[in-house]
Amino acid sequence: MVGKVLRLALVLLLLASWTNEGRAQTESYENPKALKVWLTISARKRFLEVSWSNAPANKGDQLLVTREDALSFQSQLLRKHTPLAGFPSEEGSGSGDGSPSYVPNSGFTARPATKAASKEEEQEQYWVANGGATEVVAAIEPRQGLSTQWFTTGLPFDYALSRNATVQTACYGFWASYIDAQGNILAKTCLKVFPRWMNDLKSKIGEMRLRDLFIPGTHDSGSYRPNFDPLLRESLVTKYALTQDDDIRGQLMHGVRYLDIRVGYYRNSPDPFFIYHGITKQRPLQEVINQVRDFVYETNEIIIFGLKEFPVGFGKGLGVHRLLISYLRDQLKDLIAHPSLTWGASLRDIWARRQNVFLAYDHEAMVEEFPDVLFGSVEQRWGNKQTWDQLETYLRNVNDFDVSRFSSRPVSDMAELTPETWDVILDKTGGLRKMADNVNWRISQLYRNELGTNANIVSADFIRGTTLVETAIEYNARKIYM
Ligand SMILES: *[C@@H]1O[C@H](CO)[C@@H](O)[C@H](O)[C@H]1NC(C)=O
Repeated sequence: MVGKVLRLALVLLLLASWTNEGRAQTESYENPKALKVWLTISARKRFLEVSWSNAPANKGDQLLVTREDALSFQSQLLRKHTPLAGFPSEEGSGSGDGSPSYVPNSGFTARPATKAASKEEEQEQYWVANGGATEVVAAIEPRQGLSTQWFTTGLPFDYALSRNATVQTACYGFWASYIDAQGNILAKTCLKVFPRWMNDLKSKIGEMRLRDLFIPGTHDSGSYRPNFDPLLRESLVTKYALTQDDDIRGQLMHGVRYLDIRVGYYRNSPDPFFIYHGITKQRPLQEVINQVRDFVYETNEIIIFGLKEFPVGFGKGLGVHRLLISYLRDQLKDLIAHPSLTWGASLRDIWARRQNVFLAYDHEAMVEEFPDVLFGSVEQRWGNKQTWDQLETYLRNVNDFDVSRFSSRPVSDMAELTPETWDVILDKTGGLRKMADNVNWRISQLYRNELGTNANIVSADFIRGTTLVETAIEYNARKIYM
């Protein structure tokens, strides 16, 4: 009996060392079993969120947030009641392994207990970083034995930080470290930009088609408002019209490569083409195009520019479409991917031609009329769902029975909730931000744990509240060209 167990253990050990050897060359972020920490930003209050998976979750482990890179942590004895971080009680979500569930954020902070208020001198252990030079601004105790959790902190995120990031930025704003009881850093992350992830993975994904990659996208990409603060100026209109917090440049810098562009036409305006969400006017198309063009020149990344819906001012005729297409041609010129590439082109083919912008136009007659400019549309798989359960079932179904896999035309899972008309009028759902906070952490886990292998484009509202970009890059880095 003992012999059998020993032999089994030996086989397992051999297997383990063999698989480890196979992985020796890959970076740790490509290993799906490694402890990993993420920083995201909630939509409703723009609070910093921190999440992790594959955590040992031992006694004494902590998740510490700092505003600078923490190279080491030291414990200090401080008097009780030193406030470390505020955790507003109605915010916060978390989940255990397997079954995502909503867990209110209580009982997990390292905030001093408020009960023992009588003993003034009572001391407690706290962590400081870099020998005391760097303050810990939030501390969270993982629940013991729970390897995956997601929390909203009370730390506000300023989108000016995001706008200031450049292609040179490695880390900015916030860092999060997972430490054990001795203060050893087991995993660390920071807010990052991903301005060249496609180019960085060229040796692995260069022979693949866009359809073969996991590509992060945004839903209603042009529905953002510069310098908007949802805590100050939210109205019924902004609650149901805005879908992103970063502008187009910010979205691209943070890894998005599929843009969902809905153009309206306003005949008498000096800027006749505008992004619309439904019937509300958002940004001038010119601003969006400038940011796409500048980004592509700076990074050489490939972008799918999906035009659809044409909600306002196009009428039944084709005249305004022709105006729009000639405008796009004038603006993007040589950057426009020539349709002779086809969706079957590899990234290398695309880079060889230096035609990085795919104009995917959702109007067949126009695609036929402009065969030298327009690709057919990206198929959007939009479930029009109002609850997470429905959305989850829908996303699982379209991925499980995916007939589109045999075509090279990209498809986009639309991973967001959609309010019904009366929900908007009566403000029943609390707005798109609240709906995004409800599903974004779940979407992140669904694609990370289950759907990532075969995912193509995945588009979300308020994408900074998801880990889709990092997950997409990881899955792409692990892909093997066949
Ligand atoms: C962004 O950069 C500007 C100019 O360098 C600076 O004045 C500003 O403080 C920065 N904003 C943030 C939030 O860091």
